Amino acid sequence: MGGMCGIIGYVGPRDAREVLVSGLRRMEYRGYDSAGVATISDGELQVRKKSGKIANLCGELEERPLPEAHIGIGHTRWATHGSPTDVNAHPHTSANGRIALIHNGIIENFATLKPMLEAQGVRFTSQTDTEVAAQLLGLEVARGVGLAEAMRTICRQLEGAFTLVAIDSEDPQLLVAARRNSPLVVGVGEGENFVASDVAAFIEHTNRAIEMGQGQVVEVTTDSITITDFDGNPAQGRAYEVTWDVSAAEKGGYDWFMRKEIFEQPQAISDTLLGRYSVNGELQLDELRIPVERLRVIDKIIIIACGSAYHAGLVAKYAIEHWTRIACEVEIASEFRYRDPIITSDTLVITISQSGETADTRGAQEHAKEQGAKVIAICNTVGATIPREADAVLYTHAGPEIGVASTKAFLTQLAACYLLGLYLAQVRGTLYADEIAAVMRDLEATPAKIQQVLDDSAPVLDLAKSLLESKSVLFLGRHVGYPTALEGALKLKEISYLHAEGFPAGELKHGPIALVEEGLPVFVIVPPQGRDRLHEKVISNIKEVQARGAYTVVLAEQGDADGTELADVLIPLPQLPTILQPLVASVPLQIFACELATLRGYDVDQPRNLAKSVTVE
Ligand code: AGP
Repeated sequence: MGGMCGIIGYVGPRDAREVLVSGLRRMEYRGYDSAGVATISDGELQVRKKSGKIANLCGELEERPLPEAHIGIGHTRWATHGSPTDVNAHPHTSANGRIALIHNGIIENFATLKPMLEAQGVRFTSQTDTEVAAQLLGLEVARGVGLAEAMRTICRQLEGAFTLVAIDSEDPQLLVAARRNSPLVVGVGEGENFVASDVAAFIEHTNRAIEMGQGQVVEVTTDSITITDFDGNPAQGRAYEVTWDVSAAEKGGYDWFMRKEIFEQPQAISDTLLGRYSVNGELQLDELRIPVERLRVIDKIIIIACGSAYHAGLVAKYAIEHWTRIACEVEIASEFRYRDPIITSDTLVITISQSGETADTRGAQEHAKEQGAKVIAICNTVGATIPREADAVLYTHAGPEIGVASTKAFLTQLAACYLLGLYLAQVRGTLYADEIAAVMRDLEATPAKIQQVLDDSAPVLDLAKSLLESKSVLFLGRHVGYPTALEGALKLKEISYLHAEGFPAGELKHGPIALVEEGLPVFVIVPPQGRDRLHEKVISNIKEVQARGAYTVVLAEQGDADGTELADVLIPLPQLPTILQPLVASVPLQIFACELATLRGYDVDQPRNLAKSVTVE
């Protein structure tokens, strides 16, 4: 399941059908591709679920109304495993018809658990990882243990990140929920109680909340809330009063979806890495459907995308060429189709698209396929057109991105490109297992390093204030710092409408340095030291612009003495190998653009003239 589904559970005197549907509507902003509810009436479990928007679910509820109920669960799904169909929508039920369950997160070991259950005669109806949990729960309660004890038992068996909420037709007073690495909050009412993935789902009924902790199970009735750990020991949640209004609740208390999504990046990166590097050191990209024999004979890679996705492709080129020694071109999708590109059956095309609906990218992908290329789509939206029409898919797990400006989608595209590059190197033997392991260790350490950049972002907010009146900003970088510079400039352009340009630092002397004058802000991404002569060349580029009066904003590794000395403003970065540095260097540039646009009073989430997905050419 996706990391960002909408979850609501209710038990109390109100009409559960109304509470569930309006709660799901409160979470529509999160983006989703299917929705469903389950209730219990007269000891009977009732489930209604549909792919598409909540309007489809309401249509279903018109045709097949639910009987009155005072307990139920509801879910909006953002698919990651299994395409968005009615069957794959939640809630999922156990074969014995007792349990309905909804889930947010990723159950990593479902592929090992599922055959074990099938061997016990359990018949599955969906392709989802979630159904494994529903079936396990059904078997547990059938053994006579209560729903809460059954939930604790299965939580000890499941690996991965999950929020689970379940009801049992034979115990219609009880909601049980569990969480590990995925949000769950209890809404405390008077003679009624709620559970949800975020407070937006119940804030119209109560602002008293209890945030659940890691590895906890909560048993909820109309007048009791009991929290334990997965072993049944009593545990505590964090009680608090929700002060946000509904609109702020949807943004988790942030002023913008974009800012919320910038701060979701550590989780988005770890979700994208989750389950793709097995314990025996093998990369396994399970959605890839191209035989390794085909991948072994690839003699050229063409990455095709637009906007920020294109910038991710530019970073990917450095990594893929370095690790696989395959020639890699990166093309703007709208240019690719009309330049009569050279494609053979040994060409691998990689399309990168958050929405999976970008017309330029989709058209380029079609053209490449017509020319006989194999196509891998890197996409954030399960079941979208581009992944559907590709030969293979590598999904990012950023969850829905609401802000028009790409942030967590961009960063998870980088992570997916690194994984794909390592996978190709593993398949072709151009990297040894221990070399791949070393890069994976660095990658797995990046969520914490991104969090560090987020925690230390106050100087970036001050910088936005001091540069508020700027008329133009330059961004410079070398190697992977160059695409990072392009991305920083795009962020600033598209949400603060301030002219900005990214350049390869080495290009300055070939023209752009004429732009440099007193006080012109120039951001420079400095590569880590120790890498051939890249570092010293960028340092001399900073001197060149500083000599002409530039206001230098230097992004450099903590402890980089040269970078620090030459910085009018220093943005220190955690240590990472050069090729992975964009994962941390991009973040202050996102925050800077978001803050400057906010200070200018613009609509950061819906910038003028732009759409989230450009489905026209
Ligand atoms: C980037 O901030 C913009 N939102 C835009 O450039 C975007 O990256 C581009 O339109 C590609 O969209 P896609 O990833 O959905 O294909």
